[in-house]
Amino acid sequence: MVGHVQKMESRKLRFAVLGCGFWSRFQIAAWREIDGVELVAVYNRTIDKARKTAEEFNVPGYYNDINKLFENEKIDFVDIITDVDTHFQFVQMAFKRRIAVICQKPLTADLASARQLVSESNEANIPFFIHENFRWQAPIQRLKKAMDTNVVGKIFKARVSFCSAFPVFENQPALAISERFILMDIGTHILDVVRFLFGEAKTIFCLTKTVNSKICGEDVANALLEMHSGVHCYAEMSYASVLEKEVFPQTLVLIEGEHGSIELAADFNFKITTRERTTCETVTPRSYSWADPAYAVSHSSIVDINRNFRDALMSGVQAATSAADNLKTLQLVFAAYDSAASGEVIKLK
Ligand SMILES: NC(=O)c1ccc[n+]([C@@H]2O[C@H](COP(=O)([O-])OP(=O)(O)OC[C@H]3O[C@@H](n4cnc5c(N)ncnc54)[C@H](O)[C@@H]3O)[C@@H](O)[C@H]2O)c1
Repeated sequence: MVGHVQKMESRKLRFAVLGCGFWSRFQIAAWREIDGVELVAVYNRTIDKARKTAEEFNVPGYYNDINKLFENEKIDFVDIITDVDTHFQFVQMAFKRRIAVICQKPLTADLASARQLVSESNEANIPFFIHENFRWQAPIQRLKKAMDTNVVGKIFKARVSFCSAFPVFENQPALAISERFILMDIGTHILDVVRFLFGEAKTIFCLTKTVNSKICGEDVANALLEMHSGVHCYAEMSYASVLEKEVFPQTLVLIEGEHGSIELAADFNFKITTRERTTCETVTPRSYSWADPAYAVSHSSIVDINRNFRDALMSGVQAATSAADNLKTLQLVFAAYDSAASGEVIKLK
């Protein structure tokens, strides 16, 4: 059990959103699909953005002064959707007031800060969860369910792939000037999917490259992991891949076991192959009116992760993507950077 918000059953959980940028509109819309929660205030450093968000989603309070928000509003949790370099500060401000925290990935820009926050939340027994939604995507959940039936026997290798030429900088211009780009942005998702499916890693070797000369960070990362289970996992990420079929924002997966393979192919085609046969199905993500149909797989996963957060806050049971769990994903991300910098295989502790 972890700390939880007192006697929640009879009333709605009141919360505030910090950060009213690109991603917040999907996250707020997703919260509105769930009973038992009430968005009472939004905060952004520019008041116009906060006001616009409040008007669009009919939120009673909006602020550009976070201290005023904390003084005026009685809230059970904050949902932090600002840039990574602000996360540490906002998480600590909430902890100081014993307010539970949901924070967007990546948790922090460095590992020491992430460790410190996790230890502070443990010591104070304050719920602290990370919005790491990829593992909540319907096709990834389907994959895990199939693996759990042992249909292909002992798994020995896998490939997890997120490669596209999608112009991600149009929606998220800050990514173009990040010194560390694809591993921090997509690596946090993909390496979390790797952990979700195959458990913890023993070693990681990673090569990175910057293909797009207009950006600061790496836009290609190829990582080879040896998992404690013995699985060899190749995790490939690229925003420089001009392919016949553009699949952004889909994650493609191929898992090989002693009796067959499980494949999550383009357009959510899900196949299980054994020596006898191949079975096929399409795992269509749920669509919501506010979601962009092209990104339904990503947007619908927000509803599912938010539901998990709400249930965790109400019951005191740990969320699937607790900060303590996410710290292990972040460790992998930084180990990948260390490997790319040193050219060495990094052993995980
Ligand atoms: N889970 C996902 O799939 C997913 C997708 C996109 C973004 N994200 C994450 O969401 C977070 C935000 O990304 P985004 O694309 O919405 O960025 P964005 O730049 O569009 O939005 C960030 C907002 O935070 C505000 N802000 C920044 N610093 C602030 C401060 N000190 N005080 C008050 N407001 C401040 C900015 O004004 C902006 O409105 C990042 O952590 C990013 O990694 C996650």
